Amino acid sequence: MASSARLTIAASAAGALGSLSTTQMPVERVLSEVVAIRAGTDRPFAINFLVPGLNRELFDAVLAQRIPVISLALGDPGELVKQAHEVGSVVVHQVTTTAQASEAAERGVDVIIAQGAESGGLGGFVSTMALVPQVVDAVRPVPVVAAGGIADGRGLAALLLLGAEGANIGTRFLASLESPAADAWKHAIVQAPSEDAVKVDFWGAVMPPPAPGDYPIVPRSLRTPFIDRWTERPDAIAQNADAIRDELFAALPAGRVHEYVPFAGQSAGLVREILPVERIIRDMVAEAEELLRRAPALA
Ligand SMILES: Cc1cc2nc3c(=O)[nH]c(=O)nc-3n(C[C@H](O)[C@H](O)[C@H](O)COP(=O)(O)O)c2cc1C
Repeated sequence: MASSARLTIAASAAGALGSLSTTQMPVERVLSEVVAIRAGTDRPFAINFLVPGLNRELFDAVLAQRIPVISLALGDPGELVKQAHEVGSVVVHQVTTTAQASEAAERGVDVIIAQGAESGGLGGFVSTMALVPQVVDAVRPVPVVAAGGIADGRGLAALLLLGAEGANIGTRFLASLESPAADAWKHAIVQAPSEDAVKVDFWGAVMPPPAPGDYPIVPRSLRTPFIDRWTERPDAIAQNADAIRDELFAALPAGRVHEYVPFAGQSAGLVREILPVERIIRDMVAEAEELLRRAPALA
């Protein structure tokens, strides 16, 4: 698991918007994490849901908690936007194409995250550099946050110049002190060059097919023997699909999924140290400010 109250609190307390992913979490666990976040910080925070396979009971239970920000990803947010607005939450939605962004804007989301293909985890195929300015144009005046490949102040400054209002960051925080990711996963990120953060192309052939409205995705993960084994044998995937999926799902409850698919983005190549979240944010903001102060000289 890569999400926890501790990491969310650390990010929000440091001035960012901490986000708790509810993926694979039972209702009671999410509600107890919400209690812990509220005890740990007065700052706003987000609770995140993947639209595909959304647990309706969980979504309703979280809405009843009147969370400052509800964030959604990977599928048409549809009526979920209105339902979150009805309880007073701000709605953030993550997309991977301009068409998805326009659809989300029509649904009334308050903020759109344009997630480029460099990103760790489940994502699309257009690079952050190409996607962000297009999404900014497509959904103006809805504010856009950039995701994918940002791990320091240079990335943050560059994305602000492309028209984003902020950055949504995964991989850099995964390798933080407060992250609940296994130490082996964090160390793998610190050691990996960007080219080891690969798209797991056989994913679609072993996972259940997408439902209408789900976005096409392929995860990005650090290479492992498991990924290499099946990537090298594309002809054998179809006949072994059930076995591959069973192997992955068996690793989930055991907390060993990172031994198979340690999700991480190309920004892993920029991550050199496991640091406290507060230090990561402080350094990133200071570096971006310094660069932007110097930017006029480039004109
Ligand atoms: C391990 C991992 C798990 C993720 N889980 C989620 C998730 O549950 N929900 C979500 O909206 N995005 C998720 N993401 C994507 C992030 O929100 C973000 O878009 C991405 O990490 C940005 O790219 P970066 O990894 O280069 O920083 C995840 C990313 C990683 C690396």
